[in-house]
Amino acid sequence: MRITYHEIIPDLETYFELRASVDWNNFSVEQAEKALAGSAYFVLAKDGEIPIAMGRAIGDGMYYVIVDVAVRPEYQGKKIGSTIVNRLVERIQKDAPEGSRVSIQLLAAKGKEEFYVKQGFKILPHEHCGPALRKIIYT
Ligand SMILES: CC(C)(COP(=O)(O)OP(=O)(O)OC[C@H]1O[C@@H](n2cnc3c(N)ncnc32)[C@H](O)[C@@H]1OP(=O)(O)O)[C@@H](O)C(=O)NCCC(=O)NCCS
Repeated sequence: MRITYHEIIPDLETYFELRASVDWNNFSVEQAEKALAGSAYFVLAKDGEIPIAMGRAIGDGMYYVIVDVAVRPEYQGKKIGSTIVNRLVERIQKDAPEGSRVSIQLLAAKGKEEFYVKQGFKILPHEHCGPALRKIIYT
């Protein structure tokens, strides 16, 4: 096993395939094409030439959301997911001008919150912040 990490946006087929490997529903091609191109940062992990995990951040320099963190099941538990999250956070930090305050947010999948706590994220609500909310729209 030779795991390497790349700051590249994969093709749609790879993106869909990695999502499907963790049983996530896929978005439409039109949506995904636009969304991937709009990523602020994308980290793709490969074993040799085979894509095995990914994560990306969307955002505007003040706020970022980490999404699509997925590690192919046979590669889970090998620090690949945490390396991807750490790389995204490091890149965001590196590009933030001195004196910045940046809020990195995410919605953990059910039962996965401790994974993110280990990467330094705090569970909401806490003393300074209410619970996270979301609204899903279907068209
Ligand atoms: C969740 C996921 C990204 C974790 O990636 P991974 O490569 O398996 O995790 P890592 O090996 O980097 O784990 C890092 C640490 O988090 C812990 N951890 C991983 N998954 C965890 C979980 N579900 N609950 C609690 N802790 C977890 C590990 O035990 C490890 O702890 P340690 O540093 O004390 O040894 C991966 O399992 C996955 O893709 N799951 C399916 C998709 C998914 O749910 N993605 C998250 C979307 S919010």
